[in-house]
Amino acid sequence: MKVEGKEYRALWYEDNCVKFIDQRKLPYKFEFFTAKNVDDVAFAIKDMVVRGAPAIGAAAAYGLVLGRDDVDKTADKLRGTRPTAYDLFYAIDYMVKKIKNGEDAQKAADVYVEDIINRCKKIGEHGAKLIKDGMKILTHCNAGALATVDYGTALAPFRVAHNNGKDFFVFADETRPRCQGLLTDWELEQEGIPHAVIVDNAAGYFMKKGEIDMVITGADRIAKNGDFANKIGTYEKAVLAKENGIPFYVAAPMSTFDKTIKDGEEIVIEERGREELTVINGKKVMPDWTKVKNPAFDVTPKKYVNGFITEDGIIKK
Ligand code: MRU
Repeated sequence: MKVEGKEYRALWYEDNCVKFIDQRKLPYKFEFFTAKNVDDVAFAIKDMVVRGAPAIGAAAAYGLVLGRDDVDKTADKLRGTRPTAYDLFYAIDYMVKKIKNGEDAQKAADVYVEDIINRCKKIGEHGAKLIKDGMKILTHCNAGALATVDYGTALAPFRVAHNNGKDFFVFADETRPRCQGLLTDWELEQEGIPHAVIVDNAAGYFMKKGEIDMVITGADRIAKNGDFANKIGTYEKAVLAKENGIPFYVAAPMSTFDKTIKDGEEIVIEERGREELTVINGKKVMPDWTKVKNPAFDVTPKKYVNGFITEDGIIKK
């Protein structure tokens, strides 16, 4: 992704460290976080310095480069960071196998990361075919370059269509509580793609008025039957889309498809801390006695999905 005229990735390996764009600081500050060891990488994933399923997987791949001398312990530590995104487990299994086979860990991680980026590029090419001039498209959370190292999943079709001269407009859900919609806003701003941020509760309003023609989201884990987990709020957008006759697409690489689980019931949903709701930009916005619940993801049944945009093409029902 281009920031102030320079190419960046969400994370990269440099001088025996993993470097990250610090997504906790965006969109207000463009800063970097350096992970010098496995604990730092685990912290970066847990605290959401890096986030988004494929990017978490890439972070874990480089984490295993740092911890390759004790591969099982490193793998266990990284597996314990966040439970929902399948790419994390896919990347760890890939790296453990390579390291145990005696392959060069850094080379294996580099190959893994390049492969993810290429998959995302292809998702962009396939998904762009769905985008017609004049369309208004809703997306939820951030499934852009920040979430995938580069290009994105849900945002990749927007990039390709925009570069092909298509004229369309993106609605970006704000995505409470962590406001990943502002990361989408930041990315689309860098790309010059026309868009606006809306509060999560406004999606139904715009759908009912006929102002949304299509929805594209990412996914954190897709079960064998097509049920999928994504950022909390995705399920209600999918139900609203069906109610309003709007096609709903999920963009994800095959590394997000978990072939070991038969349906969404088996997906573990991460619960995150109360501060995500009670503190905004360092300011307390709720009393100490307020009890909160904070599931980070929800599961959308397959019946709400018109198609999965993958690197291999669009899988329809
Ligand atoms: O909690 P996050 O920000 O890691 O959640 C991210 C999402 O839900 C994304 O939509 C998903 O990981 C797909 S990213 C290409």
